[in-house]
Amino acid sequence: MREGIQIICQTYDQRLTVYGDFLRRHLFFYGENHMAKERKIGFIGAGNMASALIKGIIKSNRYIPEQILASDIRPKAIKNLQKAFGITPLSNRELVSESNTIVIAVKPQNITDLLNEIKDNVHDKHLIISIAAGIPLAKISSILGKNVPMIRVMPNTPALVQKGMSALAKGKAATDEDMAEAISIFMAVGETVEVEEKMMDAITAVSGSGPGYVFKMMECMVDAAEAIGLDSKKATKLVVQTFLGASCLAKESEHSLSRLREMVTSPGGTTASGLAVFNEGLCEMTNRAIKAAYQRSIELGKNT
Ligand SMILES: NC(=O)c1ccc[n+]([C@@H]2O[C@H](COP(=O)([O-])OP(=O)(O)OC[C@H]3O[C@@H](n4cnc5c(N)ncnc54)[C@H](OP(=O)(O)O)[C@@H]3O)[C@@H](O)[C@H]2O)c1
Repeated sequence: MREGIQIICQTYDQRLTVYGDFLRRHLFFYGENHMAKERKIGFIGAGNMASALIKGIIKSNRYIPEQILASDIRPKAIKNLQKAFGITPLSNRELVSESNTIVIAVKPQNITDLLNEIKDNVHDKHLIISIAAGIPLAKISSILGKNVPMIRVMPNTPALVQKGMSALAKGKAATDEDMAEAISIFMAVGETVEVEEKMMDAITAVSGSGPGYVFKMMECMVDAAEAIGLDSKKATKLVVQTFLGASCLAKESEHSLSRLREMVTSPGGTTASGLAVFNEGLCEMTNRAIKAAYQRSIELGKNT
């Protein structure tokens, strides 16, 4: 955790300095800017996540707009992206034929139809990156009927403001260079961690659903602040900035989370009084919440 803590509130370039050894080793293999100069990346499904990723990779200079393609069944979604970022809109099949890297960003329930539509255009020189929650790479391979290099990714909603947490798992045919490319894309919208695919249900329960838990906790604190006299606007500002500040401190500090907590908890003081109430069951409740999300992720995976 300490290594990751150094980098949360930093820019893409600063994060590259920290994780750069791994990336540079692999990017150098092709030439430093191979991604920005030669490859084309295509996003199928131009919704929230694809928009966040496109914004991030343009901002970080990993790709220029001319190398970014996108397709969507909704003309409005694709028009918005074209207007905002100058990317090229295509049909799904055209996009597959023209891209080196294909990011599948449709909802899980649309993935079977999509894969059946594009499978004849997909070949083993493509790199497929799927962000569809709960869809195993084996399922994608079996529909495509071929062994294509693939990376499965579980991002989270803070990617929309370039503060995401994405876990990446490498498929059987994917190389270290494929993983380096995928990491560079998701580093443009936050932090990354590499995991085995079997850990994806755990990842979903922790960082995938995590923003929901944090928002719930924020809502509880805002309600409690209002109950002791603060107005809603000020209460929200106090709570949101407190979460942001505490998160940045946790990332940048050399101290553990427990030590940071102890540092704001004087014996007999106000924080100690508040924490005494949390100690009546917050950890146990959090444990149950994460286990419930984990079980649900496993169940949903069985039904896909
Ligand atoms: N949002 C998150 O926080 C988050 C986090 C982790 C993972 N994910 C995963 O990321 C993926 C995208 O999520 P999102 O929130 O960005 O979804 P979204 O905003 O609904 O975007 C998906 C887009 O794909 C379009 N689409 C559906 N079928 C298509 C097809 N056959 N060909 C081309 N486009 C098609 C959809 O159109 P219609 O609306 O008309 O169907 C929609 O415009 C999902 O698989 C989700 O599980 C999202």
